[in-house]
This record gives sequence, C-alpha cells and structure tokens, in this order.
Amino acid sequence: MTKLSVNINKVATLRNARGGNVPDVVKVALDCERFGADGITVHPRPDERHIRKKDVYDLRPLLSTEYNIEGYPSDDFIDLILKVKPHQVTLVPDSPTQLTSNSGWDTKSNLGFLTEVLDKFKHAGIRTSVFVSTDAVMVEYAAKAGADRVELYTEPYASAYGNDKVAAVAPFVEAAKLARSLGLGLNAGHDLSLENLAFFHKNIPWLDEVSIGHALICDALYLGLEKTIKEYKNCLI
Ligand code: PXP
Repeated sequence: MTKLSVNINKVATLRNARGGNVPDVVKVALDCERFGADGITVHPRPDERHIRKKDVYDLRPLLSTEYNIEGYPSDDFIDLILKVKPHQVTLVPDSPTQLTSNSGWDTKSNLGFLTEVLDKFKHAGIRTSVFVSTDAVMVEYAAKAGADRVELYTEPYASAYGNDKVAAVAPFVEAAKLARSLGLGLNAGHDLSLENLAFFHKNIPWLDEVSIGHALICDALYLGLEKTIKEYKNCLI
C-alpha cells in the first residue's frame, strides 16, 4: 500500500496571512487523518513563514498516523527532530530563503555530512529519507550514507507529464528499481496532483509514500478537504 502523507504547509501560510489561528493547523491535520490521510508532513523553515516550531510540537502528541518532518539539517533542525521524534525525517538541501525545494541532494559530495546526520537520527530510532533526483549516483550515495528511504523529486515528472507521460515517468521507474535493489524504501513528492498521481503510482506500485501539499490544498478549495483526500487515495489503489 502506498501511503498518502498530506503536507499542511499551505494551511499554515493561510493562517499566517492574518495573524490569528484561522484556519487551525492542528485541526486541519486531524481532519486530514479522519478523512483518510495516512500521514502528515510539515516543513518548518527558519523564518517560520508557514509551519512554526510551535506547530511541530503541538502536532506530535495528537497525530495518530505517521508524522514526517522535512527540512535542511541545520543544528537547529536536528535539535528539533531529536526532541520531537517524528516517525520519519526527510532531509532536503534547500537554503533558508528558498521558496520551495527545487532539487535533490548531491549525495556524493555531501556523503560525509549526510552520513553523520543520518546516524544521529538512526540512533534516536527515527526513520530517515533523503530527497534526491532520479540520477543513479545520487540514489546509490543516499544508500551509502545510510538512508532508510529516498524521496524522489517529482517536479520534472509533473512538468513533462502533459507532453509525454510515458517518457516522463521512465527515469523515475529506473531510479525506483535501483532504490529497491539497494534495499531502500521509496517516497516521492513535489507537484504531484490528481492529474498525474495515478499514472505515477501505476508505474511504480511499490512506492511506500507520496507527500503532497500544494495541489491537494488547492483542490480542496473546489472539492472540499474530505472529497479531495478520498480522490488522492483513489489514485493510489
Ligand atoms: N516533498 C518535499 C521534500 C517538499 O519540499 C515538498 C514541498 O514542501 C513536497 C514534497 C510537497 O510538494 P507539493 O507541495 O508540490 O505537493
């Protein structure tokens, strides 16, 4: 079964626009679970422009599904993860000011750094995932660094899907096969949507998890959150 982890960053962005607590990020996360999400993802950034540290702590005791926290492993982030102890931590290479993650790690150049960081999380009993492109070397070095899983950066798939979906998914299938052969679990995320998700899953049915935020929250404006989550889940059958 492929799990759907809902990234609730956009809900926090909306809340922060007015300074109060509407929409209530914790309530939305719990409703996502009630409507069938298999996990909740947050990406706290140093400037707290969407998810705040307080949200990260508030969610921990209340979630009943898998809690995934993604981010750049600064000292502050590592400290937060070791305190909160989510089910999974996903390491992304983005800088503090970046709008959104726009590439995977260079796992070869960062092998020493990643190995050290992953080791800390492993000792704390937290499953680890490293965000990578479909480049075989990047997947291989994620395994060498000791990651439990890789998360494939799916923006290139999403942007090429409209032209030729078979060609768009091909490198992802190859990377997914490589990850499997190396004993890595497999996640995927970025720009996945109701339009492109089912085809991705059909081609890589052994995916462990997809992490989806932007498109899902946008769809919820039209369909409502409950129907939206059910539709995303239907893409993963
Ligand atoms: N995975 C990672 C590592 C991300 O940084 C993001 C965006 O925060 C996502 C998945 C979700 O991407 P999207 O919001 O496009 O669904």
